[in-house]
Amino acid sequence: MTDNAIEITGLKKTYAATGRSPAKEALKGIDLSIPRGSIFGLLGPNGAGKSTLINVLAGLVVKSAGKVRIWGFDQDVNPRQSRAAIGIMPQEPNLDPFFTPRGSLDVQAGLYGVPKAQRRTEEILDLIGLADKADAYARSLSGGMRRRLLLGKALVHSPQILVLDEPTAGVDIELRNLLWQNVRKLNDAGMTIILTTHYLEEAEAMCDEIAIINHGEMIVRDTTANLLGTLDQKTLVITPDANHPNLPPLPGGITGQRRDNGTLAFTYQSSKTPAGEIIQAVRDAGITIRDVTSEQPDLEDVFLSLTSGR
Ligand SMILES: Nc1ncnc2c1ncn2[C@@H]1O[C@H](COP(=O)(O)OP(=O)(O)OP(=O)(O)O)[C@@H](O)[C@H]1O
Ligand SMILES: [Mg+2]
Repeated sequence: MTDNAIEITGLKKTYAATGRSPAKEALKGIDLSIPRGSIFGLLGPNGAGKSTLINVLAGLVVKSAGKVRIWGFDQDVNPRQSRAAIGIMPQEPNLDPFFTPRGSLDVQAGLYGVPKAQRRTEEILDLIGLADKADAYARSLSGGMRRRLLLGKALVHSPQILVLDEPTAGVDIELRNLLWQNVRKLNDAGMTIILTTHYLEEAEAMCDEIAIINHGEMIVRDTTANLLGTLDQKTLVITPDANHPNLPPLPGGITGQRRDNGTLAFTYQSSKTPAGEIIQAVRDAGITIRDVTSEQPDLEDVFLSLTSGR
């Protein structure tokens, strides 16, 4: 048995041409392993191929080439076992408007062959905060409630792997926090989580590891910590005690800028230049320092540096 929840090799998907649109190669040969127990982020710009990849995992999109193993089961050899190991919260709500949340969860459990005695309907309704709406028609639920119900549906068969495609797109802050609390709780209990999101600060906070895909190709895959470390650039922002119109003379490798608010910003490579050198240069120029802060690159900087201009 491998330690990976998911093993993808050489995955390709070309959507066939239709009357109006030409064929589209959405995935161009992806190799990706996702360790068990992790919270894994799949990032990329619109149209990168994230949902296509997730829908292949879900068995909703038929791949054109490659191998997919889910919890050790080859999707093509053991479709039933590989499907049972994974639960998907899709990007697009696909709820039947005439089912109630309780009904939807029951039907979903039935589809997965979960015996009545083993169903966790009430527990899931509590988890997703819909116990008080359990018997309301789905069409009377708000958009955020529908998203929570989608999460619930992904959980009925107690999968080892939970996949969330844009779980927090367009939901309010309170619901977003609730969703993430739930995801953390499930992960703490051992569930492997795979998610896509366009909120990079969210990915930074939640994910142990991240893959970025662009135009159907994986351009990077690393731990979140390493990714953030790849941008070596830091900025030291110094507030002088009085207005200083000029920048001090600087050692090589440091660029300075006087910002509109009067602070002096120095950008440098942290592996090459110790911050003390900058502070010394500022002092040597006769500037008294009132405050010092530092700005580190965030995931957004990494993302933009990797995906822009491609
Ligand atoms: N059913 C389909 N038929 C034809 N082309 C498709 C289909 N689904 C997706 N595509 C195309 O495949 C490419 C990848 O789409 P996909 O939905 O996987 O992107 P995504 O990374 O999930 O984007 P987003 O961030 O907008 O959700 C896009 O060019 C899209 O137009
Ligand atoms: Mg998508």
